[in-house]
Amino acid sequence: MEHNLKTVLVDVPGKEYEVQISRDLKAEICSFSSRCTENRDVLIVTDQYLLSGYANALKSSLEEAGKNVLVFVMCGGKASKSFSEVLKIYGILEVNNFARDSVMIALGGGVVGDLAGFVASTWYRGMNLVHVPTTLMAMVDSSIGGKVAINFRDTINAVGNYYHPIANFTDMRFLDTLPDRDFNSGLAEVLKCAFIADQDFANYLSDSCDQILQRELSSLIFCVKRAIEIKVDHIRNDVTERGKRLLLNFGHTLGHAIEMATHSDATGEAFRHGEGVALGMTAAMTLSRSQLGLSSEIVTRVRELIVTYGLPINFSASAYGFDREDLINRCMKLIMKDKKRKDNQLRFVLMDSFGSAVVRSRVPEDQVRAAFEVVIEE
Ligand SMILES: NC(=O)c1ccc[n+]([C@@H]2O[C@H](COP(=O)([O-])OP(=O)(O)OC[C@H]3O[C@@H](n4cnc5c(N)ncnc54)[C@H](O)[C@@H]3O)[C@@H](O)[C@H]2O)c1
Repeated sequence: MEHNLKTVLVDVPGKEYEVQISRDLKAEICSFSSRCTENRDVLIVTDQYLLSGYANALKSSLEEAGKNVLVFVMCGGKASKSFSEVLKIYGILEVNNFARDSVMIALGGGVVGDLAGFVASTWYRGMNLVHVPTTLMAMVDSSIGGKVAINFRDTINAVGNYYHPIANFTDMRFLDTLPDRDFNSGLAEVLKCAFIADQDFANYLSDSCDQILQRELSSLIFCVKRAIEIKVDHIRNDVTERGKRLLLNFGHTLGHAIEMATHSDATGEAFRHGEGVALGMTAAMTLSRSQLGLSSEIVTRVRELIVTYGLPINFSASAYGFDREDLINRCMKLIMKDKKRKDNQLRFVLMDSFGSAVVRSRVPEDQVRAAFEVVIEE
């Protein structure tokens, strides 16, 4: 076993479990699965990418430990977060008599975690769920916090739940194979955690960028652990997002509008989720300056850090086939739709000093437009 094991305790109302962070955790997953329940049935939900390399090896190890193991390989991509995939998994659970105390292992990125988590949360009103996140985004964000969801028609994450696992095994070996673009996308959430809550961590990310971008193990473990601790600290007493948890949305409202407005059925997504968050954080810095008088030095520091980690702070609308004015109007429309869902208030998370953020309501519409104008160029 890797000597470098770190753990984070997630203690939310009604549930307490550990996130184990290390390299090569297969033996730990097997021994936990044997200890946590006498029920022998395990379903691994995964995608094609992880099937031959890891899922089959995990299946063999679990079988050696006495478990009956089935593997469900989802159809692939974001389209998998759908009712049709949910029904396929329910079918397997029913035919094979899976009970509440059987175990579902979500082995994959955020898509696998959201889909498997949603199914686990509803099967007999909640069966044992174990997260094994394999992308940086899933490690620091989607597998932490209990949000699980599938999409409905065009509405992303429309049908969902809050449901926590009984354990989370965050194995750094998965980061070896993650493409740079996905790795950097996950780093946007790491940066966000530092920006909203921890100046020292933000300084560390600034000083240690070479080691982190070279994926040096101890730096990665430190970053992942710290980001998870910050997330847990923000959800602990606010599971349903009414207070402190809102701060985790830094860059998300504006970024989500850009992600949605630039998505087309013909060409798919223009930006990864983390890239959208990076653009959203940059736009939020403009609002932080106009609304809270944040210094231009801090704005520059934040922008520089985002760029250092290979993430965008602006983009050319025409390079993606859009008319700039048109695209900004679409972003504003999406923001106004979002406002309707949130007590009819234009509310944003803004940075009030380096490593600290607040929620600001009643932000004027023209300032929001100005923030989009900074990141969306001709
Ligand atoms: N529940 C939440 O709180 C929450 C938070 C953020 C994002 N999300 C959701 O997460 C999803 C995005 O997750 P994601 O960014 O992990 O993308 P993803 O799950 O789509 O994975 C991206 C790609 O990476 C591949 N992959 C997975 N692990 C790999 C590895 N170790 N090496 C190489 N390739 C690997 C996958 O096969 C996939 O093709 C979205 O659906 C989003 O809505 C949920």
